[in-house]
This record gives sequence, C-alpha cells and structure tokens, in this order.
Amino acid sequence: MNRKVTKAIFPVAGQGTRFLPATKSVPKEIMTLVDRPLIQYAIDEARAAGIKEFIFVTSRGKGALEDYFDTAPQLEASLEAKGKQDLLDVVRSTNMDSGAIAYIRQHQALGLGHAVWCARRLIGNEPFAVILPDDVIAADKPCLQQMVETYEEVGGCMVAAMEVPKEQASSYGVLDIKETMGPLMSVKGMVEKPKKGQEPSNMAVIGRYILTTDVLRSLNKKQAGAGGEIQLTDAIAREIQSLRPVYGYKFEGRRYDCGSKNGFLEATVAFGLNRPDLRDDFSKFIAGVQSGAPAE
Ligand code: G1P
Repeated sequence: MNRKVTKAIFPVAGQGTRFLPATKSVPKEIMTLVDRPLIQYAIDEARAAGIKEFIFVTSRGKGALEDYFDTAPQLEASLEAKGKQDLLDVVRSTNMDSGAIAYIRQHQALGLGHAVWCARRLIGNEPFAVILPDDVIAADKPCLQQMVETYEEVGGCMVAAMEVPKEQASSYGVLDIKETMGPLMSVKGMVEKPKKGQEPSNMAVIGRYILTTDVLRSLNKKQAGAGGEIQLTDAIAREIQSLRPVYGYKFEGRRYDCGSKNGFLEATVAFGLNRPDLRDDFSKFIAGVQSGAPAE
C-alpha cells in the first residue's frame, strides 16, 4: 500500500470574523506572526514533511493569499542590486515550484469536511495531509513530519492530538482512546465539539491530519454534524465504524491557536522571544511590562 504523503490540503476559505476589522481586506492567513504570514508557517511545515503539492481551498476575498505565492522578480532584482543578500534569501525561500500550488474554490461555507471534499479531484487515489493554518505548532521536529514518519510505519488515518483541560474539550474534535502506544493512540471513536460532560476524553484533535481517500468517499454523504456543518471529524469517525484504523498522534511541540486573539498574541510573544535578532530588546520590553514600568 502507498504510504508516501506528497499532497496537502490547506482549508483557507474561512472569513476570519474573529479578526474583524483586519479581515475586511486581509485574509486571516496573511496576518503576520512576527514577520511571516501565518500560511508561510504551514507551508514550511508541509515542505519539511515532504509535501510536493499544495492545494488551497479558498473563497471570495482571498486574492492576497494567491498573490503571496507569486514570485516577485522586481523585488528580487532590487534587493540583489542593493546587495541585500539576507533579505533576498528570505524572499526566495518563499518561492514555490511552478505548478506545485492549486486553488479550489469552496462555493458555500458548509464546514471543514466539505472544504476538504472540494479538493477530492486533485487528490486522486493516495493518502494526503490536511493542515489547518490557524494551528501554529512550534516544535524541534515539525509536527507533520513527526506524523508522516509514524504514518509510514502504521498507515490508516492519523490526527494530531493534544491534551486540553476538560472544560475546553467542547471546543475541539475529541478522541475516544482505545489504546496508547507511546505517542500513538488507537482510537475507537471521535466526537466533534462534544457537549459539556459528554467528552470521551480530554485528548483534542489539532489541525494536522493524514487521511486516506476512504475519508473523501465518506464525505460524499454530505451529512451535517455539529453546528449544522459537514465535519471532517465525523467522516474520520465513520472510518472507525468501517473497521479501518484511526490513530491519534500526541505530537511533541507547542500549539498556538492563531484563530483566536489570545492565541495569536501568545504566539507573537513566544515566536518573538525565540528569534535571535529580536530576543534581547523584546525580552527587556516584556520584563518591563510585567513589572509595570511605563512603555517608552
Ligand atoms: C477544527 C476541527 C476540530 C479541531 C480544531 C483544531 O475546529 O473541526 O475537530 O479540534 O479545528 O483547531 P474549528 O477550530 O475550526 O472549529
């Protein structure tokens, strides 16, 4: 069975209403974490995991996202002429191979499962990854790479998983765990946004998936679930009912929910403090804020 994962779907059709008014004109995925748009973190993680084809499921108003991936020959020439090699390297590191990116439009906002299903014809008959760019994961070894390495051994479907406080579990897809084998968990059920008190565990699904085309076929049912939306979690749960293996993978690293204001601010502080060129001044500033010193 083919266990090489070379395609990834990036669902980026959401309107980002939690970041209004910024998202009136800027797609959420272009919003900047330190100096890179959120989507660049997702792309870099996918590349590190061996992904060669990048499929964006977009919607109205996402033009800036498509433009971002164009090469910028004039900018490159001017940086080169000025001898700004560092910046040139930064810009060039974002260039993508011609034909490596495809855009599919989700014509109706029917949910994450529907967004993934929209890309079905570009997937063909091979396993694929799904990356939700809102979930930014800081890790020594990028999260999807950790998963791909394990997937090559075990196959099936795999979702990234993280323990959350029980009272927050209802904001996530939640795993019902059968057996734990180190970071890998075999799963006997999955529930999207369970009602409080009905969470099968506190192990939440985080936005990294490796899926088989069976999941796409299951999404053909277009069955609405939590919130009236077609849920990816439900389609994966149906795989378990069909006796096909589904695993949770407890990744090493820290996840930031950049789909929320607090999460985005936390990521900004953490990534800022982690940058050698910013660390010294920024940590002094943070220490000053904490001690109540007036901002200069
Ligand atoms: C989506 C998924 C959910 C998952 C979450 C992780 O939910 O549907 O299963 O736990 O991402 O970020 P959303 O945050 O889009 O509501």
